Amino acid sequence: MHVLIVFDHPDPKSFSAAIAQEFMRGAISAGHTVELADLNAEGFDPRWTQVDIDSDESNGSAPPDILKEQDRIARADAICLIFPLFWWGMPATLKGWVDRVWTWGWAYDQLDDPNKSLQRNRSGLLLVPAGAKSHEMRDKGYQDALETSWVDGTFGYFGFSPRKLELLCGSTGSLERRKNLLARAYQAGLTMPPPDPDR
Ligand SMILES: Cc1cc2nc3c(=O)[nH]c(=O)nc-3n(C[C@H](O)[C@H](O)[C@H](O)COP(=O)(O)O)c2cc1C
Repeated sequence: MHVLIVFDHPDPKSFSAAIAQEFMRGAISAGHTVELADLNAEGFDPRWTQVDIDSDESNGSAPPDILKEQDRIARADAICLIFPLFWWGMPATLKGWVDRVWTWGWAYDQLDDPNKSLQRNRSGLLLVPAGAKSHEMRDKGYQDALETSWVDGTFGYFGFSPRKLELLCGSTGSLERRKNLLARAYQAGLTMPPPDPDR
């Protein structure tokens, strides 16, 4: 498979960057080709502006920086989004990437069925380092909330099938804990499933 990794963290020495490296190593070991979209290093502009609105209304085509991202998606069979959990959500650059790239008319054209997309099926994974411990995440309902908004409510519209949220909890914890999370990231790359057959 061709695996696109979309990464949001400005610091190449961050734990999230190490997670991305391990995921990539796993995917390459499994025989996949990989492509890294390092949004901060590439200077992706996350602001959804009048330019996005006008280009959509005037010719149904996206601005050039968005067409480039859509081309990357078009060549991918699998997509892994790697980002640190920020305030129980996505950091701003990735949030803007989702808002601007997966446009109405290209990614989806209805809101009634979160399992219907204009895109072909792609295997999808959200690999998310988080400072909180896993029991805090579960007991307070954050895990369910994130599953609902991302797995049930967003990425089906984009054709991610199968799709999975993997929270890497305790990312700011002990060295041993972090080693364990890095091993999980490698395994996630190694075992990335193929896309479901198209409907
Ligand atoms: C602005 C900000 C908001 C954060 N919000 C959360 C949060 O809501 N839940 C959580 O578990 N961790 C949160 N964290 C911790 C990060 O998820 C953690 O630092 C990251 O997973 C690992 O560190 P890294 O920056 O070296 O990659 C937050 C960190 C920052 C800087």
